[in-house]
Amino acid sequence: MKLCFATNNQHKIEEVKSMLLPSIDLMSLSAIGCKEELAETTGTIAGNSHQKAEYVFRNYKVNCFADDSGLEVEALNGLPGVDSAIYAGSQRSHSDNISLLLKNLQGIKNRKARFITVITLFLNGAAYQFEGILNGSIGLDLRGENGFGYDPVFIPDGFCKTLAEMTMDEKNKISHRARAIEKLVKFIIWNPEFSRQ
Ligand code: IMP
Repeated sequence: MKLCFATNNQHKIEEVKSMLLPSIDLMSLSAIGCKEELAETTGTIAGNSHQKAEYVFRNYKVNCFADDSGLEVEALNGLPGVDSAIYAGSQRSHSDNISLLLKNLQGIKNRKARFITVITLFLNGAAYQFEGILNGSIGLDLRGENGFGYDPVFIPDGFCKTLAEMTMDEKNKISHRARAIEKLVKFIIWNPEFSRQ
């Protein structure tokens, strides 16, 4: 059966494809002819993930799922949260975002933070959500070259290195996104709606 992942990020598509049964034809947004930017205006991570999946399902009549992620810092009351990509402004600069985060945490002892991903699946009109969380803390400075976003300052609980000091394989074993994807894949594999089609 056809299933759209509401993204054009080929890396994300390949990651999910490798975990799914070959009978599922996983398609990107461009593969279903969706060229417009998907709105993310609900103000929450779960809401935005629902908004994107619902838009694709309603307008393109294809079963579909969408993800949305963010970093929540305890001492900043959950910020940058849903605005993680644009924390320091609409230029969406990862280094500007990190500089602002470190500035806002200057002198603050509580460095606890978490990454969260919410995936919403629209299947024959019904919506299902899957959440993945990675707990950790924000370091005092940047370390590592890998990954993206806040990876150079995020130290997962139980590790003494940042996500940017991990290989992609190491990160993918523990990441918030991987955990949400794992739940989605289990749901798909065991769901009779998928094996029937
Ligand atoms: P998205 O919803 O996956 O596009 O994530 C939104 C923003 O959250 C990104 O632009 C990053 O700033 C941040 N983010 C999400 N996931 C990660 C991650 O795995 N590492 C670092 N930053 C992330």
